[in-house]
Amino acid sequence: MTQHTLFVCVLCRSSKSAQEKTESSAGQSLFEQLQQGLAACDWPEAIHLHPVRCLGACGHACVVALAAPTKLTFILSQLSTASVPELLQFSGQYVACAEGRVPYKERPEVVRQGIHAVLPPLPVPNVEP
Ligand code: FES
Repeated sequence: MTQHTLFVCVLCRSSKSAQEKTESSAGQSLFEQLQQGLAACDWPEAIHLHPVRCLGACGHACVVALAAPTKLTFILSQLSTASVPELLQFSGQYVACAEGRVPYKERPEVVRQGIHAVLPPLPVPNVEP
């Protein structure tokens, strides 16, 4: 069974939460909401939720990356806890699609608006010159 991983940056801070330094970060809140949302899904074992400390797109918080072997990697930004239902919807679509190629028109709006980068599947096939 293919391992699908949703990496969530738990250090991301929205501009509002940056002012509230005693509160947990926006990324940590997003991670916790995704944990709860996944637990309530019919397919919680299909996605491994993994916290990370920065995905290199700090100016575009909150940031997550959805990845699996032989599938596209989606780096999504500009997210918040309000994005959780659509992120979970997209995660389910990603699990179900070969190479993670969820048709653009079928992607939730949060995903269409929040694509920061899409990386090709690994491993890359050898191409003879
Ligand atoms: S702190 Fe979240 S991407 Fe860098």
